[in-house]
Amino acid sequence: MEPGTYLWCSCGRSDNQPFCDGSHKGTGFKPEKVMITEKKIVPWCMCRYSDKGAICDNKHREL
Ligand code: FES
Repeated sequence: MEPGTYLWCSCGRSDNQPFCDGSHKGTGFKPEKVMITEKKIVPWCMCRYSDKGAICDNKHREL
């Protein structure tokens, strides 16, 4: 990922995974703002069960 501010989708409805596209409206979910300060690989959570929010903690392996 390039440095910048990203909005991670916490609701699972976005067509632009793992980023928010506004589809959460009306669900009660809100995107999580993630600031990346240096270029790096980011293991975004795709299962929504991570205890680290937007960042994968391998919880998907227990599903
Ligand atoms: S579309 Fe999922 S949090 Fe915005």
